Amino acid sequence: MTLDQLRTAYIDFFVKRGHVHIPSASLVPENDPTTLFTGSGMQPIVPYLLGAVHPEGERLVNSQRCFRSQDIEDIGDNRHTTFFEMLGNWSLGDYFKREQLSWVFEFLTTVVGIDPAKLYVTVFAGNSDIGVSADERSVGIWKELFSGVGIEAKAVKHAGTKGIQDGRIFYYDDEKNWWSRSGIPAKMPVGEPGGPDSELFYDFGSELRLHETSVFASDPCHVNCDCGRFMEIGNSVFMEFQKTDSGFAPLSQKNVDFGGGLERILAAKHNTPDVFQTDAFAPIIAKLETASGISYTQNSETTRIFRVVADHMRAAVMLAADGVVPGGKGQGYFARRLLRRSVRFAHQSGREIHLSPLLTPVIAQMYATVHPTISEQAKYIQDVLFEEEKKFEKTLEKGLKELEKYETLDAERAFKLYETYGFPFELTQEIARERGQELCEEDFQKAQDAHSQASRSASAGMFKGGLEDDSDTTVAFHTATHLLHAALRQVLGEEVQQKGSNITADRLRFDFSWGHKLTQEEKHAVITQVNDWIDADLPVHHAMQDKAEALKQGALAFFGETYPDTVSVYIIGASPDADWVSKELCGGPHVTSTGQIGHLVLQKEKAVSSGVRRVYLARSG
Ligand code: SER
Repeated sequence: MTLDQLRTAYIDFFVKRGHVHIPSASLVPENDPTTLFTGSGMQPIVPYLLGAVHPEGERLVNSQRCFRSQDIEDIGDNRHTTFFEMLGNWSLGDYFKREQLSWVFEFLTTVVGIDPAKLYVTVFAGNSDIGVSADERSVGIWKELFSGVGIEAKAVKHAGTKGIQDGRIFYYDDEKNWWSRSGIPAKMPVGEPGGPDSELFYDFGSELRLHETSVFASDPCHVNCDCGRFMEIGNSVFMEFQKTDSGFAPLSQKNVDFGGGLERILAAKHNTPDVFQTDAFAPIIAKLETASGISYTQNSETTRIFRVVADHMRAAVMLAADGVVPGGKGQGYFARRLLRRSVRFAHQSGREIHLSPLLTPVIAQMYATVHPTISEQAKYIQDVLFEEEKKFEKTLEKGLKELEKYETLDAERAFKLYETYGFPFELTQEIARERGQELCEEDFQKAQDAHSQASRSASAGMFKGGLEDDSDTTVAFHTATHLLHAALRQVLGEEVQQKGSNITADRLRFDFSWGHKLTQEEKHAVITQVNDWIDADLPVHHAMQDKAEALKQGALAFFGETYPDTVSVYIIGASPDADWVSKELCGGPHVTSTGQIGHLVLQKEKAVSSGVRRVYLARSG
């Protein structure tokens, strides 16, 4: 079974059970300013888990491209990757535990052909503080399912260092078996949905303790141990609660949110504990082996180097395909770190290899069927990545030499490496760690602040870890999206709704619902209105308001139902109560008055999909 076959088999299985196949969303979330990347399949589904009606119905399935930036420095083991595909099926207030657990078990054991004796599961142990009891319903269903294949499944408290013994179902608390985007119940903001979950693990066998340093190296390990013997391959979240001011309340509907690691299930299918040896990576590794003349399995260090390079280059290509190119801020900074870390690792192999031209065509070919936009843009992707690669190659060796001169590393030196040789701070920090030293990010920022205003604003974007960049231009363009939105609704009609936006240093992009090409007159009227409001230098007011009240007053809200009860509202106009031109629920930031935006021109207008148009605005002159 190949990666493509597994993906198709999963989607077909759930389509046969009444699900609609929805496309993977972009790696860059539209309309979600809280996060830089799509990191799970459920992220784009949140409004519907909270009760909004999904146009495709109550049963959905897909394979979502995901990127987890927090994992960059952890890559190198047998199973973690920054980019991955998450197989997902959802019930939006339709089926619940019985169907979900039975189907996922049937899919894995019958369609994929995994030996059920190799599967172990976990369930929520309950938490009296939040009034949610142990998930005995799931325990009962799992017992029946295992019994159906001749396995007596005992449910036991989590095994800790005692090993799995004769347990098959393990109870864990909310650190492990509660799922929300923000983690445990205590960390969830009011309004956030969450619930108990049931994870599935594949057992590669007790002889496979991958890390000798594991505390379980001499003890039998347990499913949640990190030694590599067990691999989590899927998670059924029973999303039935929402955090409120006074605790947890049932959601208006009981949902299922399943996420399965495509690459990991493939590894389990082939009983190969190393995802890098499945066909999700094999063509990339093979190319690297040929180009370097080094074997992936030569020693543990070459294995690590190959894994880092294969993971990072695949992720960089995927990000570029979704419009993220290496740069100094926001998403682009992560693309830069991937590229520069790959170049440094490849350099350690002692061979001169140009990664982008070598690997972009291979990756495009691997995803030709499922993600053809890579092949369509292959030349462009290769060029932008190669540009970055060459830039860093030029200074890498000098930077490493400089580094060797230092007996100790400090923030000043890390800053010098950053400014002169383009070493991302995290790269220097990683090298210091390899040398047994720890560098403090705050000190680095201070050193940077002390050096120049320009680098101060760059660092703000870099270290916010998940938030949008807040340079003056970005903020001004953000306010301009509100004006544009209001102008479009004024000129075309109130049925116009924002569908997404994207801001770079040079322009803003805005998607909105509208059925046909804008005429010259309409375009002229829209941009004239926007500029008139800019000329009027209208004040931008900010208020925290009761959600229902804000909506009643005509505030626009475009993230479905995801807002908490008290919302942040931006109002543009002479008076926030009576004389305003735009009122939107929004987290900001914004300029304080519209004159700061400067005159804008409408550069381009085109269709994005049926019923959705896109316009680009930039500063004039
Ligand atoms: N949201 C859950 C996860 O990310 C299951 O889809 O694991």
